[in-house]
Amino acid sequence: MIRVLFATSEVYPLVKTGGLADVSASLPEALCRLEYDVQILLPGYPDAVKAARKAGSRRKARFQLGQYNVSLWQTRLPGTAVTLWLVDCPPLFDRPGDPYKNEEGKDWWDNAHRFELFGKVGAMIAMGEAGLTWRPDLVHCNDWQTGLIPVFLEAYQDRPGTVFTIHNLAYQGLFSHETFRALGLPDSLWSLEQLEFYGQLSFIKGGLVFSDRITTVSPTYAREIQSPEFGSGLDGLLRHRQHALSGILNGIDTRVWNPAEDPELAFHYGRDHLKNKAQCQANLQQELGLEVNGGPLLGFIGRLVDQKGVDWMLSVMPALLEQGCQFVILGSGEDRYEEPLKQLARTWPGQMSLTLGYNEGLSHRITAGCDLFLMPSRFEPCGLNQMYSLRYGTIPVVHGVGGLADTVQDPQDVGIDKANGFVFTGASAESLLATVNRALQVFDKRKQWRRLQENGMAIDYSWKQRARTYGDLYQGILKDRDQQQLD
Ligand code: ADP
Ligand code: GLC
Repeated sequence: MIRVLFATSEVYPLVKTGGLADVSASLPEALCRLEYDVQILLPGYPDAVKAARKAGSRRKARFQLGQYNVSLWQTRLPGTAVTLWLVDCPPLFDRPGDPYKNEEGKDWWDNAHRFELFGKVGAMIAMGEAGLTWRPDLVHCNDWQTGLIPVFLEAYQDRPGTVFTIHNLAYQGLFSHETFRALGLPDSLWSLEQLEFYGQLSFIKGGLVFSDRITTVSPTYAREIQSPEFGSGLDGLLRHRQHALSGILNGIDTRVWNPAEDPELAFHYGRDHLKNKAQCQANLQQELGLEVNGGPLLGFIGRLVDQKGVDWMLSVMPALLEQGCQFVILGSGEDRYEEPLKQLARTWPGQMSLTLGYNEGLSHRITAGCDLFLMPSRFEPCGLNQMYSLRYGTIPVVHGVGGLADTVQDPQDVGIDKANGFVFTGASAESLLATVNRALQVFDKRKQWRRLQENGMAIDYSWKQRARTYGDLYQGILKDRDQQQLD
């Protein structure tokens, strides 16, 4: 049985700021079902440690790392049989709220130290130096917070294999040269070929330069990031490593996201019995103080940041509200998006609902209750919400980039019999508006709309097959490493 340490900075339901948390829970679980021994490594955030203590978990190791006392707690990911290790180091991780930011929304001043320590502990476990009896054959790193693990492991001949998954190339973990020095990293790492990035220390480069393989979360994004337009300055490096790079589409947890059984919904439905979806819509409209009128109801859930194309959505909303569309928006993020959204919600009571903040239950009810779901992202490595929507018979309107291009098919491209949503390719608000209007025309043709819904609901979004692709990748890495050791 292949043993894998899956290092991540967030995991659902313990700590979540975005899709990384969902994937960090559902992918390891799917791999465990395929008989891989995948164990998750997570910083010991207070809620996670509390949950572990409550579940009667044990401290399995304790050691000193520089000035810090570190403990390793062994527990299980709630609701699963997956082993979860918590790196308990209260001065670095016992902080409330967001895992990366303080109450004012600013990055914690010592994030480099926090995730360097996390990386060091990951490397110690990988090398059997943390006092545990379990040692992995492979370390699966995710995003910049884990980027130093492959760097620390590079020094060892008999290290495990390494894979680094890019969930979002735009977040790179960049810090000053002073921070680089303060971390005590060897000077030899300060070069263009290693961790230096335009005069700064780049954590993500650790993963991209030193891992055996690199993956990202959709085939299209894997191609896009090798171009200057989507490469965030790292396209050259990624082209250089193109033979080690592949895109594997994310799956979703089809038990958490299932309209036939979702405990967040008062009415349930499925592909062959869609009738109750209208009840879910009426309930949602009532819950949010919107007029109960049969739609069209358009939804958006997500981080209110540049990536998500909120500015394009803001510019098309007045025209669509004017036409009688309703909007339900759930999210939180930058003031420059929250403020104009608040203004619109004030101007259009009864027709537009805005919920600022994070609300898991409401996100399910929106996914079920809307007719259309908007994802006008400028770029989108994979995107999970379009898959949740498709599974709930809610038609996505997306910008044709990254994982959105890989999961949504437009009638103009594949014909109505095969389509499941609408895709715009011009990167502009005009293009978004034209495509929403195209979708609204089909909305009025009930039979065609139903066809789109059924097509989307028929697709298998589960991890089953997609996790197998990760399994094949793990096996390929181990084979290569065996070969290297023989050579
Ligand atoms: P990203 O990781 O870039 O934020 P994804 O589409 O991969 O985008 O995943 C976002 C995840 O976070 C989804 O599960 C989505 O439902 C959830 N989410 C985002 N914002 C909120 C919110 N305000 N309330 C509830 N869930 C949210
Ligand atoms: C990132 C990406 C998103 C992806 C998620 C999980 O946060 O922005 O597109 O779905 O990671 O891989």
